[in-house]
Amino acid sequence: MTTGIEKSRINMYEVLLCITNAGDLISPEVSNHHQQVAYFAYMLADRMGIGQKQKKDLVLAGLLHDVAAFSLNERLELIEAEPVTAHSHAFRGASLLSGFSPLENAACIIRHHHVPWDHGDGKTFRGMKVSPLSHILHLADRVVVQANKNAGIITQVPAIRKSIVEQSGSNFMPEAVAAFEELCDIESIWLDVAYKPLMYILPGIVAFDMMELNWEETEGLTRLFSGIIDFRSPFTANHSAGVAASAEKIAEIAGFSMSEQKMMHIAGNLHDIGKIAVSKGVLEKPGSLSKEELVTMRSHTFYTYRLLQAIKGFEVINKWAAFHHETLDGKGYPFHLKGDSLPLGSRIMAVADVFTAISEDRPYRKGMEYEEIVRVLKKMVQDEKLCPYATALLFDHYDEVNDARIVAQNEAKIRYETMLREG
Ligand SMILES: [Fe+2]
Ligand SMILES: [Fe+2]
Ligand SMILES: [Fe+2]
Repeated sequence: MTTGIEKSRINMYEVLLCITNAGDLISPEVSNHHQQVAYFAYMLADRMGIGQKQKKDLVLAGLLHDVAAFSLNERLELIEAEPVTAHSHAFRGASLLSGFSPLENAACIIRHHHVPWDHGDGKTFRGMKVSPLSHILHLADRVVVQANKNAGIITQVPAIRKSIVEQSGSNFMPEAVAAFEELCDIESIWLDVAYKPLMYILPGIVAFDMMELNWEETEGLTRLFSGIIDFRSPFTANHSAGVAASAEKIAEIAGFSMSEQKMMHIAGNLHDIGKIAVSKGVLEKPGSLSKEELVTMRSHTFYTYRLLQAIKGFEVINKWAAFHHETLDGKGYPFHLKGDSLPLGSRIMAVADVFTAISEDRPYRKGMEYEEIVRVLKKMVQDEKLCPYATALLFDHYDEVNDARIVAQNEAKIRYETMLREG
């Protein structure tokens, strides 16, 4: 099966934006924060005469620096102040993002973005060298968190300037503060910071030459993102990894081409990206959800669809990822598509999602055994919830699919534990 999509190139900026936008859905208080920090850090570095390659790494770091601050509370605390625990999300973020070479430098910058300058002692931290770029990111972060979103920005600049200059040398690197003072007089820079559609103009401003990824690289990048989606809660810590591996395996059995198998893996990594918009309280609630909580929970596939829409070349992947709660009888959600408008890829994803969810161990229960899994899936086929063909592919190659799931989930578990250790 080929669909002429073998050679697609994916724009890395669009994929990164997708994950930052997902994080911003948690609450309006944190929206645009990553873009603002990326922008301001770039402007500081530009003033300081830093080279283009390093500025680009800094922008990448800015766009992702708080992705491992998983709960809204943690995000809000970081906007209020820098608690003693501030290094945790920075170290976790670095741990999550390292291992994908285009983001290796950004990961190093992120690791130390809350290290104070401490009169030069901040050149190292816990025996590691700290990049000056981390200090620039730190300053940019502390500048933009001071801007009150509900008031005009220009009139706030003198107060922000005063507070930053007071901390020059102690908290912030003096060279960066000098560059900051020069930026204080340029209105356009501040208006940009407060400009809501900043994300759309950012690449143009920072002369960001779009890095293009092939399917293999996109898979590597989205594997990191599956961690950002799953590692928020021990309840889901390796769910997406299992879904991605089993969906890819079933797609291979169904005769999908190599590229399509990779695409299926990518779709699996991202299928629950919309869950980032769902609060941890709802995700982890023991027992049944209230009506309102259920509505929130069920909206996650809608957000998956809207978020992935921003990535050119992801049209097919999006359908495979976001339709995993649509059912053949049209009673699924949120689009209420009927069987004939559900592509095989989406049907496979739905099977992989249920199969993984009932097979995996969760902190509060063990995964089901084979007989029970078969019983549940068969019942869902009978009730027109799952596609009989996609489910039969799983049953006919059960061990193969299950082994792929177990290997992938064990690997994700190791990444999760490493991240917890480093954070
Ligand atoms: Fe941070
Ligand atoms: Fe931040
Ligand atoms: Fe899922």
